[in-house]
Amino acid sequence: MPVFLVGFMGSGKTHWGKIWAEEQQLDFYDLDEIIQADQGRSINTIFDADGEEFFRKLETVTLMRFTGKENCLLACGGGTPCYNNNMDWMNNNGTTVYLDARPGFILDRVKEEIDKRPLINKLNESELLFFIEQKLKERVPIYRQAKIVLDAESLDKNSLMNINKYA
Ligand code: S3P
Repeated sequence: MPVFLVGFMGSGKTHWGKIWAEEQQLDFYDLDEIIQADQGRSINTIFDADGEEFFRKLETVTLMRFTGKENCLLACGGGTPCYNNNMDWMNNNGTTVYLDARPGFILDRVKEEIDKRPLINKLNESELLFFIEQKLKERVPIYRQAKIVLDAESLDKNSLMNINKYA
């Protein structure tokens, strides 16, 4: 079964996902990267041209391709678990791991690369913190349905070592 890594933008899904996949000889995938490659355009362009709802459909369809896929780890987008019952689907079809992070930690990480994220690219720093706090409140109850919850602020390369016992 696949490992599905979930958590807010900037919580380290791609960074740690690559490290853990290598440590455990899993194939690494990034959902946003797959969508961008399939579409031949950036996430920003998809949002601008076709809207968020269209993007959420693409996310779900792309996620479904992981049905029954073995030995792989997928870094999801921050919103992936929160639409179209994707969290339930992931819990039934893989091992879900949530990287739990505080708003301040997230702010420090996303403000460096705000441009490539359509939900936040028009916000100034104080609007950004407010947005993160609000969205986290909405999303945390869903993220916390993951089988494994890890503290995003104290991770190392061994944090996911015991993943097999949850599969
Ligand atoms: C989103 C997070 C992004 C990307 C899109 C929407 C979200 O992924 O899927 O911009 O709704 O939180 P990252 O979490 O990898 O930045």
